[in-house]
Amino acid sequence: MTSVLQNLEHGVMTLTLNRVDKKNALTAHMYAALATALSNAVDEKDVRVVLIQGHETVFSAGNDIADFLQQPPANANSPVSLFLRGIATFPKPLIASVCGPAVGVGTTMLLHCDLVYAGDNAAFSMPFVNLGLCPEAASSLLAVQLMGYQRAAEALLLGEPFLVEVALELGLISRVLPPAEVNAYAQQQAQKMAKKPLASLVETKRLMTSARTPAVLAQMDEEAAVFSRMLKEPAAVEAFSAFMQKRKPVFN
Ligand code: COA
Repeated sequence: MTSVLQNLEHGVMTLTLNRVDKKNALTAHMYAALATALSNAVDEKDVRVVLIQGHETVFSAGNDIADFLQQPPANANSPVSLFLRGIATFPKPLIASVCGPAVGVGTTMLLHCDLVYAGDNAAFSMPFVNLGLCPEAASSLLAVQLMGYQRAAEALLLGEPFLVEVALELGLISRVLPPAEVNAYAQQQAQKMAKKPLASLVETKRLMTSARTPAVLAQMDEEAAVFSRMLKEPAAVEAFSAFMQKRKPVFN
C-alpha cells in the first residue's frame, strides 16, 4: 500500500500519511515521497496550496525508529533533510490537519505550516530528550519563538506532551474540531485559499517568513549535525533498543 497518498484537486495538493498500522511513523521512503511532492509542487502551476494530513486517529508517531536505525540520515541530501528543507522553504501556503498523536517531527513539522487544524484528540510532543536526541526541524529556534523560552523548555527539556487547549493558546494550531471533521474542514479552507491570486499568496508568505528563513536553515543544519552524532551515542542506542524490545529505557 502507498504510504504517502497524493491528490490534486481544485488547486490543492493533498498529501496523506497512510501507514496507520505503524501510527504513520515516517520512513526514509515516506520522507523522500513527501520531499519530491513538495519540490514538484513549487513549480507546478496547478498546485496553489499543499495540505498535509493524517488519519482521524493519528497524525504521525514521528521518525520510524526501526527504519532510522537501519538507514540513519547520512548527509544534507538524506530524505529527512530534503523534507525538512522543503517545508522550511516551501513558497506556497502549507496547511496541516492533525488528529491523535503528533510525535517528534509530527509536531515539529507543524512549526513550518501556515495553518494547522486539529482534532480535539490531538496530542503534541517533542520527546527528543527521552530518546537521547536533540531537537530537529529548527524546533529549538521556532518553538522558543512561538511559545516563549519557558514553555518551549517544558516541551523540549521535559519532552512532555501537550493537548489542543495548550496548542491553541500557544498559537501552534489555528482551530480545534471534532476529529471526523478536521480533514474536510482543512480541505475546505485550503480550497478557499487556492482561489486567491497565487502571486499574492506567495508574496505574502515570503514577506511573513523571509526574515526568519536564514536563521531557520542555519539552525536546522546545526541541529542535524548534533542529531547525527547523538544517534550513535549510548543514550539513543538504549532508547531505540528499548522501543524495539517494548520496554522502558534505562539511562545510566
Ligand atoms: N517507529 C516505528 N514503529 C512505530 C513507531 C515509531 N516511531 N511508533 C509506533 N510504531 C509501531 C509500534 O511499534 C507498533 O508496531 P507493532 O504493531 O508491530 O507492534 C505500532 O506502530 C502501533 O504502535 P503502538 O505503540 O502499539 O500504538 P499506541 O496507540 O499504543 O501508541 C504512540 C501510539 C504514537 C503514542 C506510540 O506508538 C509512540 O509513542 N511511538 C513512538 C513515538 C516516538 O518516540 N517517536 C519519535 C521518534 S524520533
